[in-house]
Amino acid sequence: MTTLLHDTAPDFDQPIAVLKHCHGRIRKQLATLDKLLVHLPEHGADEQARQAASAVLKYFDKAAHLHHEDEEQDLIPMLRAVAQGEDAATLQALAPVILQDHKDMDALWQDLHEQLNLVAEGGAAALSASAVQRFVQRYTAHMEREESVIAPMAMRLFSSEQMARLGAAMKQRRGLGGETDKPSVGQSVADLRKDYGQASLTEEDVLDDPMLQFTQWFEQALKAEVNEPNAMSVATVSSEGRPSSRIVLVKQFDERGFTWYTNYDSKKAQDLRDNKFAALLFFWSELERQVRIEGRVERTLDEESDRYFRSRPLKSRLSAIASHQSAPIASRAALEENYETVARQAGEDPPRPANWGGFRLIPDRIEFWQGRRSRFHDRIVYERQADGSWTRQRLQP
Ligand SMILES: Cc1cc2nc3c(=O)[nH]c(=O)nc-3n(C[C@H](O)[C@H](O)[C@H](O)COP(=O)(O)O)c2cc1C
Repeated sequence: MTTLLHDTAPDFDQPIAVLKHCHGRIRKQLATLDKLLVHLPEHGADEQARQAASAVLKYFDKAAHLHHEDEEQDLIPMLRAVAQGEDAATLQALAPVILQDHKDMDALWQDLHEQLNLVAEGGAAALSASAVQRFVQRYTAHMEREESVIAPMAMRLFSSEQMARLGAAMKQRRGLGGETDKPSVGQSVADLRKDYGQASLTEEDVLDDPMLQFTQWFEQALKAEVNEPNAMSVATVSSEGRPSSRIVLVKQFDERGFTWYTNYDSKKAQDLRDNKFAALLFFWSELERQVRIEGRVERTLDEESDRYFRSRPLKSRLSAIASHQSAPIASRAALEENYETVARQAGEDPPRPANWGGFRLIPDRIEFWQGRRSRFHDRIVYERQADGSWTRQRLQP
């Protein structure tokens, strides 16, 4: 067995070269694994074998994970933000494969890790040939995928500023950023700049009925597995004209409007008693989409609220009964005491309390926003006419 010499890595101002260099090191570790397979039956877990096993362990336990994180957290999201047309389609097909490769390779590594640990400690002198082969083959195919498609795409699409950003993130991940050139969070917020470019929205793309258009986008958000697709901001305005907003979960949407459930004594409910107009906002960042909805709000029918309340898990029902939402309370302990009291008294099927139920916003304005490159976004807004029909027009970004 030969000891591997350390090679010089390129600098982080060439991040794609750094990633390719990592592949070179992975290939060397994979070659060491192959050599160990031959070496162990002949020589046992001798000093050379133990050292080789330790080196492979060290590399795949730490460095390989950093390399995967570079791709998952920086390279692929940055590519997603700039790829257009054929590149975007290629990426959409390939990115899930790469992420799955990472998971599968991690699982295959776990198996090898145990065996190598024993070799490194001199406690065993064998490795499973099939486990090594599976691991080597998977990594090799994975690296070829990245080198033939992802790396050239990044070289083609990234500006020098984007390359510098990628390199800085990779450097930071390895603790090499240096405190002096690290901006404070307050400063760096201004530098959080993402160029949107996944899709476009034209007058011809959108459906005549904005609720059907919303349904289509919602289904796409579900399919894209965006984080909390049903979370929306609800903005209300108090009797003094003071706005406030909070997140709630939309529980139903149809031709009648958008429904959520809450406490009728809460702050938002008080606002809605004084001013029936509200605004909803969905932001599906993964799809670079926002939907703004305005209209008047009414309570859902009691039967509808009853039906939904009954469908909730018992503990959620008990929480709704126990909480006087938006009212102050002395401590968490007092809150939990209220819950315990309700839980003791309420039985297995507590009815909906009168101060809990649904609100439905009946929209008269719905705007669909699709992020585009260089802040030149697409906006199509629908407005409901007196006869119930909808008109639509494009707004400037
Ligand atoms: C993800 C998420 C989902 C929420 N869903 C609801 C909901 O469906 N209903 C609700 O009353 N509050 C929900 N809340 C809590 C509200 O944001 C808010 O704290 C609460 O309704 C009290 O608001 P108010 O005092 O302005 O009335 C949710 C909060 C988050 C972060």
